[in-house]
Amino acid sequence: MQWTSLNDLREKYLAFFESKGHIRLPSYPLVPINDKSLLLINSGMAPMKKFFTGEEIPPRNRVTTCQKCIRTPDLERVGHTARHGTFFEMLGNFSFGDYFKDQAIPWAWEFLTETLEIPKDLLWPSIYENDEEAYEIWVNKVGVDPAHVVRLGKADNFWEHGSGPCGPCSEIYFDRGIKYGCGSPDCKPGCDCDRFMEIWNNVFSQFNNDGNGNYTELAQKNIDTGMGLERLACVMQGVDNMFEVDTIRKVIDNVCAISGKTYGANANNDISIRVITDHSRSAMFMIADGVIPSNEGRGYVLRRIIRRACRHGKLLGIDHPFLVETVTTSIGESKGAYPELEEKKDYILKVISMEEERFDATVDAGLSILSDLINAALSDHSDVISGEDVFKLYDTYGFPIDLTREIAEESHLKIDEETFNALMKAQKQRAREARANI
Ligand code: SER
Repeated sequence: MQWTSLNDLREKYLAFFESKGHIRLPSYPLVPINDKSLLLINSGMAPMKKFFTGEEIPPRNRVTTCQKCIRTPDLERVGHTARHGTFFEMLGNFSFGDYFKDQAIPWAWEFLTETLEIPKDLLWPSIYENDEEAYEIWVNKVGVDPAHVVRLGKADNFWEHGSGPCGPCSEIYFDRGIKYGCGSPDCKPGCDCDRFMEIWNNVFSQFNNDGNGNYTELAQKNIDTGMGLERLACVMQGVDNMFEVDTIRKVIDNVCAISGKTYGANANNDISIRVITDHSRSAMFMIADGVIPSNEGRGYVLRRIIRRACRHGKLLGIDHPFLVETVTTSIGESKGAYPELEEKKDYILKVISMEEERFDATVDAGLSILSDLINAALSDHSDVISGEDVFKLYDTYGFPIDLTREIAEESHLKIDEETFNALMKAQKQRAREARANI
């Protein structure tokens, strides 16, 4: 296997599945179209749910995409580990009532072991508990050593994300080597340690979940596969985590150049460098897809992301607006695959700089007030910041509650969210009444 850039890997994957009769579609926007169940697209299949259920007809029954995805449940972990990120790209090949397991599995193997030349003995498939059909294909059709096929339960090998198409799956793990392992003689995929990294998920989408845990068999059997492009790039570039992947590392280096810090030299600075890097990428893609910072819904996610990045810039000692620079670097790395970034570059940079400047005007005052509140709480032996103070930081200084919570937690303090929520509700009510009286 040879070192391959992230941009080349994307192209190799899409071209491979085109050669297997798939139509290559551009990524769908991050903002879901006619789907109120999701704030942001979080997987390759999410924009195609209606093709799976048969409600809409796809342009072809074999599709391949590289989908922009954002997942924010772990937003506050981003930066603190090198594993978490909000933005990622998901490669996928999809069959809508066309081929099923007996083609999806061998193609996945062919792509990894022939196109990318990953050594076979470093790959371990997993199957859902008693999916004998998948087992047969892996062992008898593909020829994988049965000792390398692992059976896992519903938590690992049944894929679903809220409501919609779902089903059992067969994953492919890459063995990163014993130096990442726990040392247990039974260490294999499914173990909690870092040795085996899941890279590809082949979902056999045959059910629809109505969102309340009721499953109905879909009229057609489908294939939904997903492979995180950044994870695949980690494997192909021999690096530990996505922040070391070529295109992302460029943004890291840019943050270092702006701040005068060295990545890898100080754990706290590394957190801030990773936050800015990840958030620059997410913010740029969200804005390109029409999200603007606001106090609600996905606009609020964007605001939180930008403001969190700004605050980490302060922690690095950057004393001027800088996100325009990091976003420009990130656009340069991704515009080949996403021409909308270049087309909308001026607009993206304008939205970023307006939001950054807006926050910049109050962030220093807000941070100093918050720091006084934290010191006061600590010297009073209290473990909580009052809801009134959290509300004031939000309302007057533009601090999203999550940011205040995160900063308080750094000093092991909680915030009174109940009172904050009550104050927010009262404020919204007042705004509604004021509008009604116009
Ligand atoms: N939907 C599955 C996933 O997101 C495979 O694409 O992992």
